[in-house]
Amino acid sequence: MREIALVTGSSRGIGAKIAEELAKMGCDIAINYNKNRDKAETLAKYIKDTYNVQCLTYKCNVSIKSEVEKMHSEIVRDIGEVTILINNAGIAQQKLFTDITEEDWDNMFDINVKSAYLCTKSVLPNMIKVHRGTIVNIASMWGEVGASCEVHYSASKAALIGFTKALAKEVGLSNIRVNCVSPGVIDTDMNQDFSEEDMQALCEDIPLNNIGSADDIAQTVAFLVSEKAKYITGQIISVNGGMII
Ligand code: NAI
Repeated sequence: MREIALVTGSSRGIGAKIAEELAKMGCDIAINYNKNRDKAETLAKYIKDTYNVQCLTYKCNVSIKSEVEKMHSEIVRDIGEVTILINNAGIAQQKLFTDITEEDWDNMFDINVKSAYLCTKSVLPNMIKVHRGTIVNIASMWGEVGASCEVHYSASKAALIGFTKALAKEVGLSNIRVNCVSPGVIDTDMNQDFSEEDMQALCEDIPLNNIGSADDIAQTVAFLVSEKAKYITGQIISVNGGMII
């Protein structure tokens, strides 16, 4: 059956790897980007040429309702109805709790949580109508265990975990599966501000003793959207090298 996947925030990092992995499985791909059009288009061309699937790019700030609605109708027009949604777009910020402003808080929740609500709301009616679909939310281990100096980030990712568990219960009867991947420390631009020493210190807290790759997350997402995972829903799959601190 033809699958059409929308991966939010997929011009780089984990999202880009997920887009490639889903294309490898034969899915047509909608790449969403907010700012980096060149990167998104280069990736789309590579995916199209390499995997012989449709792959188009869509500029959209996924925290803004009108932009999400516009992106969704363009994807339906250009490729077709979305059958796989990966809510990957996100931001992080390190700050003492007492320094977090109301604007920081709202921005964190708009991009990390409201975006999942808006994107899911746009694709769910058709998934319910056709009685199939899969959604994967990218949370974080900090949403499970909490991170000092990242209270708003941790709280937003914990919200995504609750979103996943609740929605899975609501739409299971419609044959729609909703799961969450909860990465540990992954080597992407999100961690570019950490020094070599910080990364080394983090490694020491990881039982497998290395930083994860975007591919580690993409492989897990690919499994979760595949038929191999057809009895898995409402789960939080931690991909963190065993790190629980
Ligand atoms: P990244 O910073 O490379 O990628 C995030 C992507 O989201 C970027 O392409 C960015 O442009 C996009 N984005 C941000 N705001 C957006 C908006 N308003 N509209 C559309 N796109 C937007 O970082 P990475 O690591 O690839 O992050 C992907 C996801 O994985 C995020 O949700 C992040 O919280 C999560 N994660 C990452 C970890 C890591 O160690 N790298 C650990 C745990 C979770």
